Amino acid sequence: MTGQVTITWPAADRFSALPLACGNAIDPGIVAADDWRDWSDRATTVDQRRIENYLDRFSLAGKRILHVGIGNSGLALRFARRADEVVGISIDARELTLAHGLGLANYVAVERNKYAGLGDDIEGRFDFIIDNNINSACCCLSHLQGLLEEYGDRLTPCGQILTDREGLAWIPEAAGLNPRWRFSLEDLACAADLTGLTTEAIGSHLAALSRGDRAQPTLASRTSSLLRRTPPAVARRLKRLRTRLARR
Ligand SMILES: C[S@@+](CC[C@H](N)C(=O)[O-])C[C@H]1O[C@@H](n2cnc3c(N)ncnc32)[C@H](O)[C@@H]1O
Repeated sequence: MTGQVTITWPAADRFSALPLACGNAIDPGIVAADDWRDWSDRATTVDQRRIENYLDRFSLAGKRILHVGIGNSGLALRFARRADEVVGISIDARELTLAHGLGLANYVAVERNKYAGLGDDIEGRFDFIIDNNINSACCCLSHLQGLLEEYGDRLTPCGQILTDREGLAWIPEAAGLNPRWRFSLEDLACAADLTGLTTEAIGSHLAALSRGDRAQPTLASRTSSLLRRTPPAVARRLKRLRTRLARR
């Protein structure tokens, strides 16, 4: 399952049921029903949780993370202390109020419609861009391409965009949404390839998009991740063992 995703061309046939351009330059994307866009008091989705568990395997010291669709801000709560900075974006005022109320020093949450561009006030590049619903509320292929292009441009040289098959295949249950926006990983890989991004499957759910060699978790960072998920007493024993092994 792990490895570069193979694409079947042509893209024109694959995406023939989707509009090429919506003509909305001001506020593109589909603003779905309230109960979809406000995720402030809902549990983190299983797909985002899987991405988080993968992110946890990395050493995040000095790293910048862009979280698109902050929901309940669980990602920032889990990782902001370990990273250099977490920048989150959302279109929902309640999600932003929750984020601002957390008082996390290196967590910045901004109101932004991802299909309209990140804007100049979100500065710099990111080591990780997390978006589990890249296509879910999209309006047209042109805005999807714009989004993927910008994500690619905002990556550091070894940076990566992390997403999940379940999130890609999910669209809000709102009337009028074109079901073809439910994407397979191959659909995403095809759209991403047109912007120079390579898509790699990681196991049976996750995927990473990058413009070259993406960073990989090291043995040390994976061990630390394992220790974080191990009951404290066992973790203490494993840490002692690790220290002893390091001395030899
Ligand atoms: C289904 S919720 C998922 C929340 C969180 N990522 C999770 O998986 O638990 C979708 C998220 O995307 C945000 N969102 C929807 N459309 C967006 C857009 N055009 N630009 C930025 N964020 C958007 C919503 O406000 C919400 O935070």
